[in-house]
Amino acid sequence: MKRELRLTSDGSPTLYVPELDETYHSMHGSVQEAQHVFIQNGLTYIGSETKQVKILEVGFGTGLNALLTALYAKENALSVHYVGLEAYPVEEEIWKAINYLDDPEAKAFYTQIMALPFGVTKAYDASFTLCKLAFSIQEWATTEKFDLIYYDAFGPRAQPEMWALAIFEKLYYLLNPGGAIVTYCAQGQFKRHLKSLGLRVEGLPGPPGKREMTRGVKV
Ligand SMILES: C[S@@+](CC[C@H](N)C(=O)[O-])C[C@H]1O[C@@H](n2cnc3c(N)ncnc32)[C@H](O)[C@@H]1O
Repeated sequence: MKRELRLTSDGSPTLYVPELDETYHSMHGSVQEAQHVFIQNGLTYIGSETKQVKILEVGFGTGLNALLTALYAKENALSVHYVGLEAYPVEEEIWKAINYLDDPEAKAFYTQIMALPFGVTKAYDASFTLCKLAFSIQEWATTEKFDLIYYDAFGPRAQPEMWALAIFEKLYYLLNPGGAIVTYCAQGQFKRHLKSLGLRVEGLPGPPGKREMTRGVKV
């Protein structure tokens, strides 16, 4: 998959995929979007119930959500076990050109998580353990359960197969009761899929440039 580095409106980088005509993040700001959708409306929500959080990310990509999660976990005394699933890992020469946060410590930590080989589990400290897996969500088989799923696939226009009911059936069984799936997407058909599985679906205000995002809770 060919990828090109682009700058978003908040000055943070993202990747553009010409073959899909799609970016990895909102062009209104990649860091702002990730912070709003996944941290504020995902991790903060689950982290208020439990200090030990198991997270699955579908679409690990450039590792932005993992980086922000690790920083939040440290600041808020959470213990996060993070599994990042990625079908098309980003090449080293590309992620090495990415700088999400100005802080040198955060930059050094970002390099560590991106350099971690796929298939290896590493505990960085008491607050963050990471395992990246080079599988597609369709082919990945597991019995692990999660408290929180970051669903960060490309949008339904670019990758309709990532928004099929069968995927959310699979994710439903991977969620612990009370667990949540969060995504930037607010497409009607997607929300109907979640509702049909019995999830409580919440339409929440979206990040800058987007009216709505979605959180589904397994009640
Ligand atoms: C919107 S981007 C993810 C952005 C990422 N979370 C980040 O912060 O860089 C979508 C990601 O899903 C990955 N992907 C595409 N098809 C997939 C599949 N079937 N299973 C898992 N990941 C997939 C893409 O390679 C890409 O990295």
